[in-house]
Amino acid sequence: AAWKAFLNVSQSIIAIAFGAWAYESLGGTHGTPLESNLVAFFGLAVAFFTTNMISVSIFFVIRNKNTFLSVLRQVVGPGGINIVYGLLASPIALIAAFLYDKLYVGGILLIILPIFLIRYSYLSKIQLQQSNQDLLKVLVKTIETRDPYTSGHSLRVSRLARFIALELGLSARRVEMIETAALLHDIGKIDSVYAEIIRKRDRLTDEEHRVIKTHAVKGAELLQSLTSLPEEVIKGVRHHHERYDGKGYPDGLAGKEIPISARIIMLCDSIDAMLSDRPYRAALSVDQVAEEIQRCAGSQFDPDIVAVVLRGETLEKAAAQIREASLPDVVGV
Ligand SMILES: [Fe+2]
Repeated sequence: AAWKAFLNVSQSIIAIAFGAWAYESLGGTHGTPLESNLVAFFGLAVAFFTTNMISVSIFFVIRNKNTFLSVLRQVVGPGGINIVYGLLASPIALIAAFLYDKLYVGGILLIILPIFLIRYSYLSKIQLQQSNQDLLKVLVKTIETRDPYTSGHSLRVSRLARFIALELGLSARRVEMIETAALLHDIGKIDSVYAEIIRKRDRLTDEEHRVIKTHAVKGAELLQSLTSLPEEVIKGVRHHHERYDGKGYPDGLAGKEIPISARIIMLCDSIDAMLSDRPYRAALSVDQVAEEIQRCAGSQFDPDIVAVVLRGETLEKAAAQIREASLPDVVGV
């Protein structure tokens, strides 16, 4: 988009200006051999990346209304990995200057090749993320095969959560995080302590209820230890059974204290469950579900999200994807 390009160019100009200022402040001179300006160049690189990261963070703070520190943490990356990448890549600028010094335009053309290689490695990283996402879907599907009544539930909840997040006008990055959290919301149930309880068709005892409730924390812990997923995804999983009135679990958070991802998942989880057949009852109709979520708006669910759901076609979409899933598979020969 044009505004994105404008912001990118603007922040680059500011970062370059700070870099140049650092270069000159550290005694860097123009038209002299590069070797004598290495310290000043290092100062330039540090000033450039610091300015770049701060300005990008400010942009995300304004757009996503997050705290500055949490955004900066994401921009800097786990263990400062993005700064390390940046500093490792900065000698390319030195090489470019050197080649330009010796070969003029031919030198600049020579440097384009490694830059394309770097770009290619970024694209590979994106593909890797995509295949990770596919693997997660397979994993979730595998867990759900233990219980035929919840088969496909997480995937449907994630699609529904994505749809609602878009309806709420959230940013693309948040929509993506909410979708991932929704896909993984019951991942804690992979632990063998829940196997018996999940299989059980009768009413659960108090003790079994106490055990099953730990799946939210278990899931968050699992994700924390296994992957470098954003904090918001992990929080979405941890808090997906919090109720708007504060009577949920595990932390009894209330209202807008509950992360928006968790508030959306709580609603989608219930909508999909109500619209599906269960061993002890038939599926509810779209109208019955509409009535039920309206009744629980403000107690179980965030009333603002319920209002958005009832305003649009969300429930029809949710019912349609359940119908789609229950069509008999075509048997191959
Ligand atoms: Fe759950």
